[in-house]
Amino acid sequence: MRKILRAVAWSAGALVLMLVVAGGGLYFASQHRLDRTWSVAGHTVPVPTDSLALERGRHVAFALSKCADCHRTDLGGGQFIDEAPVARLYAPNLTRGKGGIGAAYTDLDWERAIRHAVRPNGDGLLFMPSLEFQFLSDDDVGALIAYLKALPPVDRESVPNRVGPIGRALYMKGDLVLVPAERVAHDQHPTAVPMSVSAEYGKYLAEVGGCTGCHGEGFSGGKIPGTPPDWKPASNITPTGIGHYKEEDFFRAMREGVRPGGAPIDSLMPFRFTKLMTDDEIRALYLYLRTVPAKPFGGR
Ligand code: HEC
Ligand code: HEC
Repeated sequence: MRKILRAVAWSAGALVLMLVVAGGGLYFASQHRLDRTWSVAGHTVPVPTDSLALERGRHVAFALSKCADCHRTDLGGGQFIDEAPVARLYAPNLTRGKGGIGAAYTDLDWERAIRHAVRPNGDGLLFMPSLEFQFLSDDDVGALIAYLKALPPVDRESVPNRVGPIGRALYMKGDLVLVPAERVAHDQHPTAVPMSVSAEYGKYLAEVGGCTGCHGEGFSGGKIPGTPPDWKPASNITPTGIGHYKEEDFFRAMREGVRPGGAPIDSLMPFRFTKLMTDDEIRALYLYLRTVPAKPFGGR
C-alpha cells in the first residue's frame, strides 16, 4: 500500500514538474519572440493641414478604420480586452495630454506605429491592427496623422499590456496575430486610392476597415482569435453567407445592426462606426463583397 502511495505521489510530483517546465518554456520562448525589436525605416508621407484633410482624417479614425473602437471616442485610451488568461489589452492615449503619446510623436513615428505596428523605440506593438492598416494609402494615413495631431489633449495614464498563458500558447501556435510587425509587408503601401463606387474601392474599405481582422482573410467568418469562449463568432460574409442580401439589406446591417428579417446583429460587429460610412462607401463595399469567392462558414 505504502509503495503504491509513494508511486502515486512521485508521478503527481513529476506531472507538476512537467507542467512547470512546459509553462516556463512557453513563457521564455514567447517572451523571447515578444522582446524582438524592429528597425523599420517607415515612410515619410505628406501631412496636410487644411480643413478638408482634417475632416478626411477624422472619417478614417471613426468611420473607416475605427481607431475609436479600441482607443475610445476621445482617443484618450482604454481597456478593450480584460481576459487575464488570454490577455489584458489597453489601447493607449493618443493625444498630447498627460499620459498620452501625442506630444512626443513625430510624423514618421505616427506612420511607423499605424502602418508597421512599431513603436519609436523599436518595440513591436501588440494587437494593434496594422495588418489591416498597412493598406492605408499615403493620402489617408497623412490625413489621419493630421487629425491625430490636432486632437484635444486628454489627461489619462495608459496601462501596460499583459499576455496570459493561453494568449502565449495561441501566439506560439500561430493562431493569434499578437505582434503584427511580424507579418506586415514593411515596404509596400499604396500612395493614393481613387474613391469611387466600385468593387476596387470597396476592397480598400474592407481592408482598412478591419473586416478581415474579425471575419477572416477570406471573409468566411468563425471564432475571432483571442476572444473569450462566450463571444459570438463573426458571420460568413462571402456570398454563401450574405448572398441573399439586397443592397438595402446591407445598408441596414451596416447602419442599424439588423439582418434582413429584422433580427439584431451582436454589437461586437462595430456598426456604431460602420454607420458613419457614406452611402457611396457602403455601396462600394457591397459591390466588393459580391465579388469575393463563396466559402463555407469558417472555411479559409
Ligand atoms: C483592435 C484594437 C485597436 C484598434 C482598432 C486600433 N488600435 Fe492602436 N493600439 C492598440 C493597442 C492594444 C496598442 C498598444 C500596443 C502595445 O502596447 O504594445 C495600440 C497602440 C497604438 C499606437 C502606439 C502608442 C504607443 O504607445 O506608442 C498608436 C500610435 C496607435 N495605436 C494608433 C492607432 C490608430 C491611428 C488607429 C486607427 C487607424 C488604431 N490605433 C486602431 C489597439 C488598437
Ligand atoms: C470587431 C470585429 C468585427 C469587425 C471589425 C467587423 N465585423 Fe462584421 N460582424 C462581427 C460579428 C461578431 C458578427 C456576428 C454577430 C452576430 O452573430 O450577431 C458580424 C456580423 C456581420 C454582418 C451580418 C451578417 C449576417 O447576416 O449574419 C455583416 C453584413 C457584417 N458583419 C459585415 C462587416 C463588414 C463589411 C465589416 C468591415 C467594414 C465588418 N463586418 C467588420 C464582427 C466584426
